[in-house]
Amino acid sequence: MAESNALTSFSILVLHGPNLNLLGLREPGIYGDVTLASINDRLEQEGRSLQVKVATFQSNHEGALVDVIHAALGVHQGILINPGAYTHTSVAIRDAIAGVAIPTVEVHLSNVYRREPFRHHSYIAPVAVGQISGFGADSYRLGLHALVQHLRQQTP
Ligand code: DQA
Repeated sequence: MAESNALTSFSILVLHGPNLNLLGLREPGIYGDVTLASINDRLEQEGRSLQVKVATFQSNHEGALVDVIHAALGVHQGILINPGAYTHTSVAIRDAIAGVAIPTVEVHLSNVYRREPFRHHSYIAPVAVGQISGFGADSYRLGLHALVQHLRQQTP
């Protein structure tokens, strides 16, 4: 069936920015005690139930994230990104997302708008489909659902 082929053909790239490799240890009062490996496992499982492929990547380096976004062209149809601190500083990541024009959803474990003022500005949000912030590890699951729904609505 053409429709079910379309459903299984989406591949989603999940990107985690700096310090997110420390999840589980890092400021658990803010970020919770779930590890990055466990978040990735849950996303892969959720991907199977949504019938999409999920590929994950974490880096502490801005250029590495830019390279992976460029390499997503023609391979992945959507990007789910927690840019970590680069949210608030990176014109390069914003330009990479705008450059490849792959629909992107921005997620944050913490509610960045309840935190320090420097976290209230996102360079990524203006080039994203939308942003989910404040639901802990569940922000990723909600973001994946929102992204897949967006892609399905866009695809004839
Ligand atoms: C974060 C929020 C950022 O401000 C912070 O620098 C992070 C994590 C979050 O998921 O809540 O590293 O993106």
